[in-house]
Amino acid sequence: MGLLIKDGEIVTADARCHADIYIANETITSIGLDLQVPAETEVIDANGKLIFPGFIDPHVHIHLPFMATFAKDTHATASVAALIGGTTTFIEMVCPSRGEDALEGYHKWKQKAEGTSACDYAFHMGVTHYDAGTEAQLREIVKDGTASFKIFLSYKGFFGVDDNEMFRVLKLAAELGVITTAHCENSELVSQMQHALLAAGKTGPEWHEPSRPEAIEAEGTSRFATFVEQTGATGYVVHLSCAPALHAAVEAKLRGVKLYVESVVPHFLLDKSYAELPGVEGMKHVMSPPLRDKSNQQVLWSSLETRLIDTVGTDHCPFDTGQKLLGANDFTQIPNGIPGIEERINLMYTYGVNRGRLNIHRFVDALSTQPAKLFGLFPRKGTIAVGSDADLVIYDQEYRGILTAAKQHTNNDYCGFEGFAIEGRPSVVMVRGKVQVRDGVFIGDQGRGLFLRREPQYQKHEVADAC
Ligand code: URP
Ligand code: ZN
Ligand code: ZN
Repeated sequence: MGLLIKDGEIVTADARCHADIYIANETITSIGLDLQVPAETEVIDANGKLIFPGFIDPHVHIHLPFMATFAKDTHATASVAALIGGTTTFIEMVCPSRGEDALEGYHKWKQKAEGTSACDYAFHMGVTHYDAGTEAQLREIVKDGTASFKIFLSYKGFFGVDDNEMFRVLKLAAELGVITTAHCENSELVSQMQHALLAAGKTGPEWHEPSRPEAIEAEGTSRFATFVEQTGATGYVVHLSCAPALHAAVEAKLRGVKLYVESVVPHFLLDKSYAELPGVEGMKHVMSPPLRDKSNQQVLWSSLETRLIDTVGTDHCPFDTGQKLLGANDFTQIPNGIPGIEERINLMYTYGVNRGRLNIHRFVDALSTQPAKLFGLFPRKGTIAVGSDADLVIYDQEYRGILTAAKQHTNNDYCGFEGFAIEGRPSVVMVRGKVQVRDGVFIGDQGRGLFLRREPQYQKHEVADAC
């Protein structure tokens, strides 16, 4: 049976119009005024509401063994939280530990998501070491439809790769035509700073930011960009947090490096004073790169609007207060991360679009269309067009609410944005034509989510052998 969405106002990255949308067999089959449809068609009245393409979160952690513990969500909890917040596809970072084979890790992550995710999903393949077997395994993973890599320049001895490994990953990525995403902080400098601060008795969460200053992120960004440039690869800087790192990225873009930039919701709305709160309140806000001086927020907002920043993700990574307290006596042991998959759309709509900082088309572009384009999902995802998957968010701009842990669906005992007011929320969220959420309640199929296979889409380029 078909489904008709009637009388809504469609908003995409480049258009806005009143029209009906007809959906059959999971896809959008027609868009127009007063569509004539079969008699038995189910009708959803979208009068007075906006209709956005399903949002795509390009950076989430769900299964994550990290800092002596595991992030709290399962694919079941995170996907429901995502949908309630209007995200219909997420791209999860596969992060095997350094001792684990890439392929083994990849299959482990895939098995965890299969049949349990309520929304569609894809992966970035984290490369956490590069040995004799890695290249063949990565080729197999790309053939399986995971056409993006992830590297960490930080987290020395855990997820972090050295410059030789980074070169080899980028060389292979260039040859295969896949994009490489990177966490850009200089791990050696972070480690030296951490030791010096701890030796001086500075153990609280307020020292997390000083241990990873802006210059250290700028150096990581600049070095990653140089390696991307020299290998002819395509790079994507994840969770960029501050003006100096943005300068490094833009400088590289301007000299022709194929480099894209993502920032994540916490850095637009929270600042380092949150991590300076006493006790576990501060620990809740420990993430890397750290929350920065507030002056960076204006730079991020204006750079998002003017497209120096390409996408907005979350870096969703929930650890509960018990886990955060693992670092009660040593800030370097606080599990890094904050949840956000449920809040991204409503926060960026409220504090971006409604506050006049972000054009509504750019909002759709950065949170849906660009992630789809950069990661090989467009035009199946990321737009509202005939032939696209019917992943749609019917958005109620009149809704007013306050974010709080007591009402969230993410599996955590705190909300990263506790007390923030929101002005708007999804009224109906559908995944390939199936209504999964109505007015903040999950009413759909828990196992509906599909693994999205993606083809390499960047220019292929051979580089001389690494040593
Ligand atoms: O603090 C963060 N960002 N935790 C998750 C791991 C990462 O660096 O992305
Ligand atoms: Zn990171
Ligand atoms: Zn991350």
